[in-house]
Amino acid sequence: AVVKLIGRDGGESKLEALSGCPLMEALRDANIGVEGTCGGACSCGTCHVYVDAAWLDKLPPKTEDEQLMLEAIGDLVPLKPGSRLSCQIPMSEALEGLVVEIAPAL
Ligand code: FES
Repeated sequence: AVVKLIGRDGGESKLEALSGCPLMEALRDANIGVEGTCGGACSCGTCHVYVDAAWLDKLPPKTEDEQLMLEAIGDLVPLKPGSRLSCQIPMSEALEGLVVEIAPAL
């Protein structure tokens, strides 16, 4: 699905994210500063994004692990209502047009 990205500099771009793969992988492979250091194990927080409010209820709910990791990085970067770990967002065609902003680096 094609995702609309808002970069750390506010610039907008589009990214193709393969269905069946976590959004983090597409962001990491695009070399835009999303590291995904832990490989999607919900333990690094470097894949943090702000999901546009209109899309939040179309995503799977946060697991406890994701919630705890977000709280942990909340000391370092601002959390917003749309804060999610992109490694916990499996892509599908239902997410065509998803809008995400890349959160500040940790
Ligand atoms: Fe490490 Fe998502 S890639 S928490």
